[in-house]
Amino acid sequence: MVKINDLNLKNWKEYKDLWTDSLWIIPEREKSHGHIGDYHGNFVPQIPNQLMSRFTRKGDVVLDAFLGSGTTLIECKQLDRNGIGIELLENIASLAKKRIGQESLFNDKEIFLEVLVADSTKKEAKEEAVDILKTHNKQSVQLIILHPPYHDIIKFSKRREDLSNAKSVEDFLRLFGDVVSNFLELLENERHLAVVIGDKYTNSEWVPLGFLVMQETLKRANGDLKLKSILVKNMVNNRAKRNLENLWHYRALVGGFYIFKHEYILLFQKK
Ligand SMILES: C[S@@+](CC[C@H](N)C(=O)[O-])C[C@H]1O[C@@H](n2cnc3c(N)ncnc32)[C@H](O)[C@@H]1O
Repeated sequence: MVKINDLNLKNWKEYKDLWTDSLWIIPEREKSHGHIGDYHGNFVPQIPNQLMSRFTRKGDVVLDAFLGSGTTLIECKQLDRNGIGIELLENIASLAKKRIGQESLFNDKEIFLEVLVADSTKKEAKEEAVDILKTHNKQSVQLIILHPPYHDIIKFSKRREDLSNAKSVEDFLRLFGDVVSNFLELLENERHLAVVIGDKYTNSEWVPLGFLVMQETLKRANGDLKLKSILVKNMVNNRAKRNLENLWHYRALVGGFYIFKHEYILLFQKK
């Protein structure tokens, strides 16, 4: 069996800060280590931090195919993991690079953090990632984190390749599936793939993007992945939304629906 973390389980009582419940209530986002959290659609650093702490070792490689503002790579730096981040939008990739670079406390660490500007659905993105691995004498990655757009809930750009512009849920799932197919072969056996995703409403109907993405991931893996956990995480509103809470409460009562307060972290393991 491959050792997939640096935990010494003889001292298991010391790991109280590692969460083992499927319900993740995170009261507020971690703000230290250069995390700013102003990118619309970012995730809280605690997500990559928990995943890396349990499912990677120092010196392992973490790949994030929807890098956004760089949260995953900042956590890589913090935890001594190597990181490859892929982001479609050049300006957002530059922002991520700047933020990763600003975290100067850890300048002398012997890890690599690489940001690629590419379309993660395309073979070229994988080839670039392979080139980076080769440069560092590595052949595989030990954790994949995918935090795609939740279809069209937030429009990240006008680009056709942007998953938030997929014409339909089916198109979104196909493109997401292409990303899974693209990078899964880079994942070492027994290592993990995590998908962070929320559901959406369209025309007063709940669209279970989380479950659809879970099915698509398993379908694309063709038997190579097993589902390890479905984690449910609370969603905390920003100030603008908090001010509208009464209005939403009223709308929900009138419309007979429930307001989204959770998203999923789907955890898979390669067989
Ligand atoms: C939900 S955000 C990720 C946020 C990130 N976890 C963070 O903390 O900043 C999704 C990102 O995927 C990017 N994206 C959309 N389509 C893409 C594609 N085809 N290839 C690569 N990135 C893509 C968007 O530009 C956006 O920055």
